[in-house]
Amino acid sequence: MSQTNSSWGGRFAEATDAFVAEFTASIGFDQRLYRHDIEGSIAHATMLAECGVLTQDEQEAIIKGLREVQADIESGQIQWSVALEDVHMNVESALTAKIGYVGKKLHTGRSRNDQIATDIRLYLREAIDHLNSEITRLQNSLIDLAEQEASTIMPGFTHLQTAQPVTFGHHLLAWNEMLQRDYERLVDCRKRVNILPLGAAALAGTTYPINRARTAELLGFDQPTRNSLDSVSDRDFAIEFTHAGALIMMHLSRMSEELVLWASAQFDFIDLPDRFCTGSSIMPQKKNPDVPELVRGKTGRVYGHLMSLLTLMKSQPLAYNKDNQEDKEPLFDTIDTLAGSLRAFADMVPHLNAKKDNMRSAAAKGFSTATDLADYLVKKGLPFRDAHEVVGESVAFGIKTGKDLSELSLEQLQSFSELITADVFEVLTLEGSVAARDHLGGTAPNQVKSACISARERVATRK
Ligand code: ARG
Repeated sequence: MSQTNSSWGGRFAEATDAFVAEFTASIGFDQRLYRHDIEGSIAHATMLAECGVLTQDEQEAIIKGLREVQADIESGQIQWSVALEDVHMNVESALTAKIGYVGKKLHTGRSRNDQIATDIRLYLREAIDHLNSEITRLQNSLIDLAEQEASTIMPGFTHLQTAQPVTFGHHLLAWNEMLQRDYERLVDCRKRVNILPLGAAALAGTTYPINRARTAELLGFDQPTRNSLDSVSDRDFAIEFTHAGALIMMHLSRMSEELVLWASAQFDFIDLPDRFCTGSSIMPQKKNPDVPELVRGKTGRVYGHLMSLLTLMKSQPLAYNKDNQEDKEPLFDTIDTLAGSLRAFADMVPHLNAKKDNMRSAAAKGFSTATDLADYLVKKGLPFRDAHEVVGESVAFGIKTGKDLSELSLEQLQSFSELITADVFEVLTLEGSVAARDHLGGTAPNQVKSACISARERVATRK
């Protein structure tokens, strides 16, 4: 008789085709779950012994054996085998090789279907916690820098055209708000990740007197899942995570784009530290902003993974289907991409150097205080539409004469409206303009400073 698979070969008359074995195996990528697989197995064996399904001796032998298998994996002594398909069967086979037939009892009352659903949840829970600590690190760096740059003036843009002066600190706190929501989304997603599928077995549950609440408690899950069919089949939690990840990358890509623009000779608003940049092999003058460019570029793969996972799950009938084995690579790559991108940003932001003079002189160009002049006229009694018209004429004059509004003489300004008096120059300055926006959420240095305090407090009091 030909060699059939030792885990399920009983009903087979011929061995698996060599290519099919290779094609269907997941060990190449699910080996990274070994720690979570073993953790899940230890909890399962503990619960089985408590329920009288395994003896105390069997439980002890299994747990000791599993710990040794983990040590062997970590010291590189385990050769992963494609013939054993996946991480679950590789670990079980290593265990049985170590402790003999008792190892074969570990799989009592469970299936690889509920086992893998548990392993990914354990893995993803840990990944979410790591990613959130990196988001926190990045937020703290942004808040520190925002505080330092609370009064630094730069042009604010709409349509990438100079709109109104803002403070650099205010701009950085806008990034912080994006990350705050990203953090909250992951916290929310974690609630639906942190539920235990184990006990669903293949799809219908098991005939052994198991205690799922106990396994959940042992593994730190909030509760067991409520329906065995749903437990082994749905991967919506992975899709939800990838969706949150896509939004994080979208935000990082926006920050990246701004860093790339600001580091260019045309803007020249910031210096990126040399160690986050590379040069050109042909153009000696180049210092390229590779890190933000790469993060911007990597956004695409996470969007792609979201689409892969949605499509993977689409139309799958209940319950487990092998399709679901395809969830791992997109999920793992999403986690890796997020971890790398967040780390790069968190490391880089504290070393951003703002070129204050360049920011200020850019804000002084482009009639950024035109709205302030209109508001000034409104406060003197002119309806806003008329004020808009007056300022439009002043700007046209400024363009013709090559002067900013603050560079026009009082007489020149008065030729557009008699309401203008000498106090107009207070509102036409950049400092006057930002200081005047002194309300919750506004760009005034005062507001930025207090926003930094509350942002820091929000971050510090998490969990
Ligand atoms: N490697 C499989 C996966 O990732 C584990 C579950 C396999 N179950 C099965 N009945 N073939 O989904």
